[in-house]
Amino acid sequence: MQSSKKFKKTLFFLGGMVLLFTLFIFLMGTGFFDKKTLAVTPPSNAMYLDNTKPIEVRVANLLSYMTLEEKVGQMTLVEKNSVKTLSDISSYNFGGLLSGSGAKPEINTVAGWREMILSYQAEAQNSRLAIPLFYGVDAVHGHAHVPGLTVFPHAIGLGATDNPQLVEAVAKATAEELSLTGVNWSFSPNLDQPQDMRWGRVYETFSDDPLLVSKLGSAYIRGLQDKNDSKVPVLATVKHYVGLGGMQWNTSLNKNFKIDQGVTPADEATLWTVYLPPFAEAIDNGALSVMAGLNTWGDKRLVLQKYLLTDVLKEELNFKGFVVSDWYGVYEGRKNLFLATVQAVNAGVDMVMLPFDYQSFLTNMKWANRLGLISDARIDEAVGRILYAKFAMGLFDQASETSVAEKNINPDHKALARQAVSESLVLLKNTNEILPLSGNVKHIQVAGSAADNVGQQMGGWSIEWQGVDGNWPEGSTSILAGIKARAGQGVVVDYNLQGEFSTDKKAEVGIAILGEKPYSEGWGDNEYPTISQEDLQAIEALKKTSEQVVVIVVSGRPLFITEQLADFDALVIAWLPGSEGEGVADVLFGDQPFTGKLPLPWPSQLSQLPITSAGVTADGTSVLFPRYFSL
Ligand code: BGC
Repeated sequence: MQSSKKFKKTLFFLGGMVLLFTLFIFLMGTGFFDKKTLAVTPPSNAMYLDNTKPIEVRVANLLSYMTLEEKVGQMTLVEKNSVKTLSDISSYNFGGLLSGSGAKPEINTVAGWREMILSYQAEAQNSRLAIPLFYGVDAVHGHAHVPGLTVFPHAIGLGATDNPQLVEAVAKATAEELSLTGVNWSFSPNLDQPQDMRWGRVYETFSDDPLLVSKLGSAYIRGLQDKNDSKVPVLATVKHYVGLGGMQWNTSLNKNFKIDQGVTPADEATLWTVYLPPFAEAIDNGALSVMAGLNTWGDKRLVLQKYLLTDVLKEELNFKGFVVSDWYGVYEGRKNLFLATVQAVNAGVDMVMLPFDYQSFLTNMKWANRLGLISDARIDEAVGRILYAKFAMGLFDQASETSVAEKNINPDHKALARQAVSESLVLLKNTNEILPLSGNVKHIQVAGSAADNVGQQMGGWSIEWQGVDGNWPEGSTSILAGIKARAGQGVVVDYNLQGEFSTDKKAEVGIAILGEKPYSEGWGDNEYPTISQEDLQAIEALKKTSEQVVVIVVSGRPLFITEQLADFDALVIAWLPGSEGEGVADVLFGDQPFTGKLPLPWPSQLSQLPITSAGVTADGTSVLFPRYFSL
């Protein structure tokens, strides 16, 4: 009895030893024990510090001094409110920080932002290799999170201008205002192509036409990354790679949404003819950062598509920059975060927008590497790409800024935004040529939810992620204020939100300025976007007291208006014009011409959705107005 117990024990012991030995041999094979994270100190004249050397040489040189920890740190992108203590920035060697939309400094001014970001950069300088940080924000229509800065029309309005010079100038002005606050990275331009206007991100896009998206997207990149006039370039990010806008209604993997974060059913040929061309053009125009979308293609989320991220983007399209995942994109819908990390990094994601828990990411990356699941070569490639962009944007060569003084914005930017508003207006109906308003008009009545509401005319991604309500953002002008200012002394401009005016004497013209309340992303997915009941009532009321009614639609996408159109004497689409409402009055009063064209088709009924980029509706019927229509 005793001896059989002893025998079993010995057997157990020997079995254990064999197992341990096998594990040891396996780990030896993976190089587990060789991974000494030896820190080699670079000499003071290290090659990577020499800006006369080619970028590739600088990257290889810097990589040669980096430890595994420093490398995986560079692959980490953290939301600023998730940084536990400031010193984590240097001890973990973060590659980048970001402000999620609405994540502002305590004092939301240019100086407040500057002070915040410079303190992060100073902390990064405390790390062994002092690699500067990328600091990213979503400047999708100007640096719109800071009250007082210039808020340009959202991309759909820029699409209506079809003016690449204007778009380049807008991006350049945006970069100037970003760099006043210390931001050196913007998650723009958006190259998505909406096929279904029910999607909450239509307004972030230029158009559903791959040619127009390519043209304006590249102009935007040139403007943002421009290095002339000693302007500090801001790194552009083209998003969302790839097939966003083509998702199918009711396929969202996010239970709160309907189409955002959904499945793109496009076949391979459509991918190459519709969705990939703007990215190819962007790469030719210097794009060095691409954001992988939260959509799914085939049976896999984009972040898991090695074919698209590595074979197509990096190899076929010859992309030299880095792939960044979208907000929580690597982990979204995954239970095993270790496996999710391994799969996304091996598929081709170079920088992970975590954006929260960085400690577990860093541990997972190190273990994945030690176990041979993510190779050294893959990590070097990812980090090399991130460093390439940092060198290309001059991050290592800029004199370190320390002044946190308030800076003035260039007043020309507001004039540029006003011009962009004017050029974005699309005239769809104009009975008796009521527009531009004649000099004989002496009495105007204005009504509607968007007439006197800067927050509404800015839309989402303005101050807050979901936008704001009201006229409080300083330095901005509502459309009503613009009309009043232009009408001047001799013209009476009455305003009432509901359009309720005295019926004693009819005004020559009533202007109903109406549209959508602000929204962002999937929160704007809307089964049937149309004019609200309140705004319809305002039009009805206005019709009783005005000879003719001009309707101005302030919205991020086409609205269903087929039944109401006959009631309007004139119809103008103003998209989401931003902070400079005067740009609308400039065109209404004829100081500027109507030049905008619809950047996407305007459907007449729900069954037409989705509409292909070739303009084919789902039910085969004709849309209300085709793409590029205008009077
Ligand atoms: C959006 C991206 C954006 C990112 C960072 C995500 O929710 O999908 O477009 O760049 O947040 O704010």
